[in-house]
Amino acid sequence: MKENAKSTPATNGATGPRLGILLVGMGAISTTLVAGVEAIRQGLARPFGALSQLAMISPPDQPNVRVPLAEYLHLTRLEDLVFGGWDINPGNGYDMAVASGVLEPLLLAATRPALEAIQPMPGIHDPQYLRRAEGKRVKPQTNKFEQAEALRQDIRNFKKEHKLEQVVVMWCGSTEVFLTVGPAHQSLHIFEAAMRENEPTIAPSMIYAYAALQEHCSFVNATPTLTVDMPVMTDLATKNVCPVSGKDLKTGQTLLKTILAPGIKQRMLGLAGWFSTNILGNGDGATLDDPAAFRSKEESKLSALNHILQPELYPELYGKLSHQVKINYYPPRGDNKESWDNIDIIGWLGYQMQIKINFLCRDSILAAPLLLDLALLSAAAQRAGEGGVCEWLGFYFKSPQTRQGQPEHDLGVQYQQLQQAFHRLAPKLARQLQTAKA
Ligand SMILES: NC(=O)c1ccc[n+]([C@@H]2O[C@H](COP(=O)([O-])OP(=O)(O)OC[C@H]3O[C@@H](n4cnc5c(N)ncnc54)[C@H](O)[C@@H]3O)[C@@H](O)[C@H]2O)c1
Repeated sequence: MKENAKSTPATNGATGPRLGILLVGMGAISTTLVAGVEAIRQGLARPFGALSQLAMISPPDQPNVRVPLAEYLHLTRLEDLVFGGWDINPGNGYDMAVASGVLEPLLLAATRPALEAIQPMPGIHDPQYLRRAEGKRVKPQTNKFEQAEALRQDIRNFKKEHKLEQVVVMWCGSTEVFLTVGPAHQSLHIFEAAMRENEPTIAPSMIYAYAALQEHCSFVNATPTLTVDMPVMTDLATKNVCPVSGKDLKTGQTLLKTILAPGIKQRMLGLAGWFSTNILGNGDGATLDDPAAFRSKEESKLSALNHILQPELYPELYGKLSHQVKINYYPPRGDNKESWDNIDIIGWLGYQMQIKINFLCRDSILAAPLLLDLALLSAAAQRAGEGGVCEWLGFYFKSPQTRQGQPEHDLGVQYQQLQQAFHRLAPKLARQLQTAKA
């Protein structure tokens, strides 16, 4: 708990309806979100890193006026968030927050009742997709379609118990092994038949996504796993007006990459190589120690540079770039990840120079505010009638999802797209609120 934290709760003018957040996987990032929201509600800490709590915005017709983003978009107040979730291992939210080792004892003690109130529902597990974990508390159903039905019932029960109209489901489970889109993922009809047949290319994360979208919940994929970026899910998301937006939160090294690379390119400096390495000792690090799971992460970490630099347009500057990313599981570091980047740039007359970056970050501390923003903004978009792939939320992801074509990775451009979307949504949300009150 930081001593300089303000002792009053955040009052950002938010006025939206109550919102349920169901977290799939109650590990480090999920419990850091829940404990963080509770600490902020109690006035013990501040929501640094969350646009939804701190950003100010000027309405297009009032360039000299600044209003809190939460007020502008009528976002749900932190006091009106209700958390629940699933996990494949036993323990309540507090046990899992302690095991994750992210938060210090004082803050854990202050948020203990809120964390303990979360008793994760038994999840669904497939050892083929998560080879380094056992799954000690799972649903009895073994047929994938029946598992989906059971998850749908969980969502309906959660809505009923807490009297909620809107729920966002967030996949925060361990990274599953690498997979590409296949025949079973092409349409709702084929996917449902394939679930009934226990088709091997249907991963647990997809079953959660299917259940969420069928129950009209927005779905956020915080992980690199192939989950909603396939025709069956995007069609279902569009049909049921549920926002989906990308995979793998853009937190540490990739965030810095997508800030720096556009500047190097704008100056027409060349790049010979970008070598990125990390040490990480949390549960995520242990999962990524499996090469098949790391392949999913590697794909999402490698894609950004190529899209930003456009080597096909500037072969002389970026055509021979050697881009490598490594993650080493190193238990002593726990959640406090350390990353190193060595960037070999080429300047005037072909002279080479080097940039070195050493980022000592806290993985889940970077991820939690992004989860909060994504939950609140996805819910707001849904209230405004926007569903399917919401490209403007690409700001938050290592692998943004697009309706078609290549995603934007440049953080500056993504930020502009986000602002434009806020201006588009604001009048719709104001009207929606009026109608709801009438
Ligand atoms: N920490 C970050 O900054 C960050 C950033 C981007 C993405 N991610 C991704 O977010 C995910 C979670 O990260 P973490 O650090 O919280 O990991 P973690 O290992 O602490 O937690 C994962 C939790 O998911 C549970 N789980 C696994 N499979 C499940 C299933 N099928 N159903 C229900 N629960 C299941 C596990 O039991 C565990 O409690 C990872 O995939 C990671 O790659 C994390």
